[in-house]
Amino acid sequence: MTKQVFLPDDIPAVGKKILEEAGLEVVVGSGRDHEKMKAEGVEASAVLIGTQKFDADIMDAMPNLKVIARNGVGYDAVDVDAATQRGIYVVNTPKALSGSVAETAVSELLAISKNLYQDSKAIHDDNWNYRKAHPGRDIEGKTVGILGFGRIGQQVAKKLSGFDVKVIAFDPFAKDVPGVELVDRETIFKTADYVMVHLPALPETQHSIGADEFKLMKNDAFLINMARGSILVESDLVLALKSGEIAGAALDVFEEEPLPVTNPLVALENVLLTPHIASNTVETKARMAVDATNDIVRVLSGKNPESAVNK
Ligand code: DGY
Repeated sequence: MTKQVFLPDDIPAVGKKILEEAGLEVVVGSGRDHEKMKAEGVEASAVLIGTQKFDADIMDAMPNLKVIARNGVGYDAVDVDAATQRGIYVVNTPKALSGSVAETAVSELLAISKNLYQDSKAIHDDNWNYRKAHPGRDIEGKTVGILGFGRIGQQVAKKLSGFDVKVIAFDPFAKDVPGVELVDRETIFKTADYVMVHLPALPETQHSIGADEFKLMKNDAFLINMARGSILVESDLVLALKSGEIAGAALDVFEEEPLPVTNPLVALENVLLTPHIASNTVETKARMAVDATNDIVRVLSGKNPESAVNK
């Protein structure tokens, strides 16, 4: 019987072609609604998902399931233990997106520092002179602190190498990289003008950046989070941004996604908010689709996947 691959969200054609050429049936669903995914994916041997929750309940609704492929690197929304207990592989695409996420991180660092969003909005609001009371800041000569120096953190350092900044990083598992000084965690918060969060979402990192860390930061420092919203205490961040404890924040990820428009962050001027788009580019989406579908084909043809996070 032809095996089925369920895609709750559509993926680039290059990925679907890999599945079809391997003789698999591709079923594109109608989005991320939990109950709909359960119904639409009932026959699936493989599923290729975004950042939506994928728990034991949904796994049990898909009795043929052999592999859950994450179109991306973070797998915090997947119940990996439940998958392992059911003999289901969880795979991801860590190699496909580091450069893209790093580009977005550096873009957001520059945009919040130069006030680009508010300045652009001012033009739309017919307020050319907004700029007078809101000068931006140069990054030249400043210190950028990277928290989490894995693939993405290292790409950020590489991309920043032409900007005349001092780069420091904290990561207990990191090896020396030329041009980057490895420091302790506290030094990042105390000395960096830009604190960039590139940590994985783990029980140890959950809510690990809150009031204490914002107090350590300089009043004119910025926070940039491209990792996961759950790593911050978001309510503490709102207080730090309102009180001037820190100068601003650029955030691509939130505790609740989609971010409700009623969230207090939305009312602040000293933020740049983007809807989890760090890897959402034409090129990277294609690369992730290729890596994820190749691993699906491997598993469904009895081979070992290249990027398993369990088993
Ligand atoms: C990831 O890959 O985890 C990114 O956050 C996008 O999903």
